[in-house]
Amino acid sequence: MFDLPAQRAHLSEKYDLNPSPELAASMSDIYDRMSRVVSPVDWAIYAPYVKAINDLKAERNAVILGHNYMTPEIYHGISDFGGDSLQLAIKATEVEADVIVQCGVHFMAETSKILSPEKTVLIPDMEAGCSLAESITADGIAEMRRRYPGAPVVTYVNTTAEVKAASDICCTSSNAAQIVAAQDSDTVIMTPDQYLAQNVARDVPQKNVVWWEGSCIVHEQYSAKDLRDFREWNPGTRLIAHPECPPDVVAEADFSGSTSGIIKYVTDEMPEKALLITECSMASNIADALPEVDFVGPCNMCPYMKKITLEKVLFALDTMTGQVEVDAEVADKARLSVQRMIDLSRKLGI
Ligand code: 13P
Ligand code: SF4
Repeated sequence: MFDLPAQRAHLSEKYDLNPSPELAASMSDIYDRMSRVVSPVDWAIYAPYVKAINDLKAERNAVILGHNYMTPEIYHGISDFGGDSLQLAIKATEVEADVIVQCGVHFMAETSKILSPEKTVLIPDMEAGCSLAESITADGIAEMRRRYPGAPVVTYVNTTAEVKAASDICCTSSNAAQIVAAQDSDTVIMTPDQYLAQNVARDVPQKNVVWWEGSCIVHEQYSAKDLRDFREWNPGTRLIAHPECPPDVVAEADFSGSTSGIIKYVTDEMPEKALLITECSMASNIADALPEVDFVGPCNMCPYMKKITLEKVLFALDTMTGQVEVDAEVADKARLSVQRMIDLSRKLGI
């Protein structure tokens, strides 16, 4: 548990974190990337944190990897690289820093540590979990193997290191269909996201895809009726869904893809109005780069992603707390599953 008052007392002794319109104005190049979605008043509050974190990053030879679901002040203000789960996993293998600060959730930080055991990997809040990662353990993988003997296990990266270690290969939402299609078996086990698996089963009909019953608490909340109603009331809006949504929701959408797939689709298509059926920060993070697109309609917030704040990032980097450790034997096995995914993705040109 975080002791916020103690954290704040520590930070205020070392840094001037008072809101500063002058500092905010001097950092307008950063603000320009989020000025449609962050008010000038809020930017004056964020700017001292952004400056302190960026200075400290240089001192510690650290890089910040920011998932597409981070809030704009984190995504645009302090992240060196933004992206989806696959892009961030690959980036973790490429960066030359001593320290990686994962602005995302715990499984992402663990994946970075698995791929770069020699680096210090920090997560600003250890409680930034994920409903999918919490839905299965290594025993669950063993149970699926008993139920479907000989079938390969394709596991979503949204899982713990132990679960990855017990699997044959990982996937993300940007490569799941291709990874399943490439398996040398008629039956393929997908864990732990039942909806991603069902969406893949539709796209890869030559395989008998069987799945674990996990789900994402953000994406499972959408219904096909929500989309039909929205389309009826807002004709001309492009509906774009993440594949963690149930299959009937994806079927109602105009496009489905990973978070980076969504960015690419909107950038290529430039719809006048778009409803992103995914986490709320997704639209906020691309709004300034795409002023021609009106992002409309409701979104759902991921409570885990939202645990990451500027204040917690500064505290983690300052004190080097929140270090992610993975047992060496588990990491070696988990690395095989993640590396197989990265190698296959590269081979398939994803
Ligand atoms: P992608 O960024 O890989 O699409 O994953 C979405 C997600 O839910 C990560 O938690
Ligand atoms: Fe997990 Fe869903 Fe949150 Fe992603 S959006 S971290 S899948 S709960």
